[in-house]
Amino acid sequence: MKTLIVYTTKSGASRDCAELLASKINNCFICDLSKQVPDIGSFDMVILGSGVRMGKIYKPMKNFIENNMQVLLVKKTAFFLCNAYPDTWKKTVEKNIPKDLSDRAICIEPLGGIPLFTSPKNGNWILSEHVDRLVQAVTLKG
Ligand SMILES: Cc1cc2nc3c(=O)[nH]c(=O)nc-3n(C[C@H](O)[C@H](O)[C@H](O)COP(=O)(O)O)c2cc1C
Repeated sequence: MKTLIVYTTKSGASRDCAELLASKINNCFICDLSKQVPDIGSFDMVILGSGVRMGKIYKPMKNFIENNMQVLLVKKTAFFLCNAYPDTWKKTVEKNIPKDLSDRAICIEPLGGIPLFTSPKNGNWILSEHVDRLVQAVTLKG
């Protein structure tokens, strides 16, 4: 199985998570949407990850999902969001991930976020339990 992680980030959390996930998943490639828009055709599994600001995922990810909707609907997909407010998680998912995709996704996980006005030097904001859950779901169902 060939997996692609596509992500968008502003403060780096989604990149850290994408790299951590890729280190735990076999045959896994990473694409930063701000540098390259990938052709997902040759991948079996696509993991989409984005930071959240003001309740929204970032524009390049929103556009990528819209532009690739038909292909994504026939792929295996998983999502992660880097967000700092757990209370608004459910609403954020509903607002940002189209229902057709969220219904079909293997999993949608909150992986933690860099708290506002901080720049942590380590990854202690990462929700390891959710990282493990995503890796397990992708590995089992991929
Ligand atoms: C201006 C700003 C707005 C934010 N808005 C939200 C929000 O609406 N919901 C949330 O859960 N986290 C929010 N956060 C926290 C971010 O989700 C967190 O910093 C995360 O690490 C962003 O992902 P990124 O580092 O990949 O860009 C906000 C952070 C900033 C700086």
